[in-house]
Amino acid sequence: MHLHRYEKIWLMLGAGGLALFIVLLCVNAFAMGMAPPSNMEMIDPERVTETPPFDKPGLKQVGDNEYDAYMTAFAFGFAPAKMEIPVGATVNFHVTSPDVIHGFQIPETNINFMVLPGHISSATHTFDEPGEYLILCNEYCGAGHQVMATTIIVK
Ligand code: CUA
Repeated sequence: MHLHRYEKIWLMLGAGGLALFIVLLCVNAFAMGMAPPSNMEMIDPERVTETPPFDKPGLKQVGDNEYDAYMTAFAFGFAPAKMEIPVGATVNFHVTSPDVIHGFQIPETNINFMVLPGHISSATHTFDEPGEYLILCNEYCGAGHQVMATTIIVK
C-alpha cells in the first residue's frame, strides 16, 4: 500500500502524541502516585455497619475547630441524618457505601466525589459561612435516588 509522505508524517505525529500521553499517564500514576480519592482505603462492603468507625457514623472532634465526619451513603439516605458544626469548622469527610455507588456533593463547596461500596472516599472543607448546607447524592442509585439527601448546619 502506498502512503503519501504527508500522510506518513501525520500518522507519526498522531502515534507520537498518543505515546507521549500514555507515558505521561504512567508517570503520573506510578511515579507520582496520583489516584482518585476513593481508591486508597478499603473495608469489607458487606460489613460496613459493623466496621468501626462506620458502625457509629457521626462527628468526632479532632482539633480546635476541626472534625472528622464518618458517614455512610446507602439506598436511600445518609448517616448520620443531620450534623451541626460551629462556623469556621474544618470537616474531614470520610464516606463509604454498603450497597451501590452513590454520589456525595455539597453545592457551593468543592466537595463532590463518588462513594463506592467498600472504598472510603475523603475530602475536607472549611465552613466559613453560617447556614444550612445540603448534602446530596448525585449518582443515580435506584428508585429513591431523588430523596437521598441530608443537611449539615453551620452556626
Ligand atoms: Cu444514592 Cu443516588
